[in-house]
Amino acid sequence: MVYSKSQNKKEMSSNFRINSFSEYRKDYKRSVNEPEEFWNEIADNFIWKKKWDKTLEYNFENADFKWFQGAKLNITENLLDRHLEKKGNKRAIIWEPNNPLEETRIITYRQLHSKVCRFANVLKRNGIEKGDRVCLYMPMIPELTVAMLACARIGAVHSIVFAGFSSSALASRINDAQCKLLVTANEVFRGTKSINLKAICDEALKDCSSVQTCIVYRRAIEPTSMVGGRDKFWIDEMYKVDDNCPAEEMDAEDPLFILYTSGSTGKPKGMVHTCGGYMVQTAYSFTNIFQMKSHDIYWCTADIGWITGHSYIVYGPLACGVTTVMFEGIPSYPDFGRFWEIVEKLRVTHFYTAPTAIRSLARESLDYVEKYDLSSLKVLGSVGEPINEEAWHWLNDYVGKGTCPIVDTWWQTETGSILISPLAGITPLRPTFATLPLPGVQAVLMDENGKEVEAINERSEGRLAVKFPWPSMARTIYGDHKRYIETYFSTFPGYYFTGDGGYRDAMDNFRITGRVDDVVIVSGHNLGTAPIENAINEHEAVAESAVVGYPHDIKGNALYAYVILQDGFTKSPELEKEIKNTVSKLIGAIAKPEKIQFVTGLPKTRSGKIMRRILRKIASNETDFGDTSTLLDPEIVETIMKEKV
Ligand code: PRX
Repeated sequence: MVYSKSQNKKEMSSNFRINSFSEYRKDYKRSVNEPEEFWNEIADNFIWKKKWDKTLEYNFENADFKWFQGAKLNITENLLDRHLEKKGNKRAIIWEPNNPLEETRIITYRQLHSKVCRFANVLKRNGIEKGDRVCLYMPMIPELTVAMLACARIGAVHSIVFAGFSSSALASRINDAQCKLLVTANEVFRGTKSINLKAICDEALKDCSSVQTCIVYRRAIEPTSMVGGRDKFWIDEMYKVDDNCPAEEMDAEDPLFILYTSGSTGKPKGMVHTCGGYMVQTAYSFTNIFQMKSHDIYWCTADIGWITGHSYIVYGPLACGVTTVMFEGIPSYPDFGRFWEIVEKLRVTHFYTAPTAIRSLARESLDYVEKYDLSSLKVLGSVGEPINEEAWHWLNDYVGKGTCPIVDTWWQTETGSILISPLAGITPLRPTFATLPLPGVQAVLMDENGKEVEAINERSEGRLAVKFPWPSMARTIYGDHKRYIETYFSTFPGYYFTGDGGYRDAMDNFRITGRVDDVVIVSGHNLGTAPIENAINEHEAVAESAVVGYPHDIKGNALYAYVILQDGFTKSPELEKEIKNTVSKLIGAIAKPEKIQFVTGLPKTRSGKIMRRILRKIASNETDFGDTSTLLDPEIVETIMKEKV
């Protein structure tokens, strides 16, 4: 291994830690004036097998971005090997099971290193080579982290599919990336439910000819049906290999993983993240936002199936050598005190969660919170959707007891790491505001003419864009670079467009208010309306449908589907249930519409485009529809309103 200049002398994170607001201002300014020098200095704090020849090369028109070109590294050496000498016996992962009666598992850095190397050898033994894609469809268990880092160890590209997705959603993602191997578990536990994951995989694999091997971790003792020649048990494979696995040398720009996110067409977008820039910026942002001390315990409640889990349960925290908690269960099981029980038990200091979870807990009795000793908490975090005033104050008053800064972190699957957030204890907070961009992030608001909103007054609105590349940005959509350019770089030429809208206050603080496209954030999950409409239309009774989001007290947004039936079918509660089940089957339960309204027509323009703006307003009980002169049949709006469910 080649160590960079400051290697091993100090803990890595201390070398680029911002300690005061004036330092933040200074670093921010420098990152804008001298971006390459700025990122060079940060990147210097990692282990590279070879340093880079060029910091940045980019072209917005072709959406071509290259960071740290020519550098060689393996991210797992930065997450694991580098900590062995001083932190080998430190807890890397504390795993808390779904059922509190089951035992907590502790995995040290040394143990994690050994498991990762061993499973990396399992992958190799099963024919996986650098560049091959491996799909992981797993519960929140430490083996998921082991499998993802094992891929990274040998240069295979992991594609994690959230274990709540259906078999057809899994199959389409496996096929899109042409994965060669699938890792799963026989069961997943969530609250009182247990789901046979392996059966879902068997169903999916009927349509996935690229998968040659399926490795199954036995999470439960239930008998598991195995397909001869294809399916192998995790434990049997682990016995066949040792834990000596040198880290594959990767280019900084080689892909590290693919992660699918919803878009405004039916097909999910496989965002491709690369090794070098992703590593540098997840670690940089983690260090500065959370401001952890060496004995602190960090817990992010997200699922690793989403980007938050990738960047802020696994890659960021482990790169910084901290202890990260992984939780298999849900906040309401065995009761609504589960989160707080875990905080007390593990003495969690940093707690990072989603507004939807906070809202669902805030409506329960305060006894659930007050029963536990939460005095270990130092920093609270929020992610995934705008946090409303009530949820912010509840979190601040009852969980943080008014003493813990709340970091409201804005970012996306595409951005790889947090771009806008307070730095805990450093940035002045304003409730519900994500506040200021991190150094290295040139966030701007654009007006309707495609110009930057210049004068910032108490409320300057616009669409959120970023005007300079950052290291952890996704590099492409797997197999479809044209779509990458069109989706993110064509709305405002020369800028990355986020799809979000928001405003800034007179202090420059950002408040991100939500999506301005056909994506709806439901309980923090990013859902495109187009794939849900496609799923609804698969039901034989459905002629056409339109799905929109509307505000919901707990979920933030919920889905409202307007459905036109085929001739010969009549509306009924059974039919409504069947349609919802079709969505569950084709996408997953998270995409089920909350409400279905059967309609005889949809508000369309003369050119046949559905005016979703009107449907959104009806679903939200609003009546000011603005200009409706382009509607083909204005009367349909009245009819839909009268029959609203
Ligand atoms: O609309 C924004 C919202 O979540 C979207 C990104 O979703 P996804 O790619 O699934 O990643 C979620 C976890 C990073 C954004 O376009 N969003 C995320 N964080 C915030 C937010 N909206 C407001 N405030 C936030 N802190």
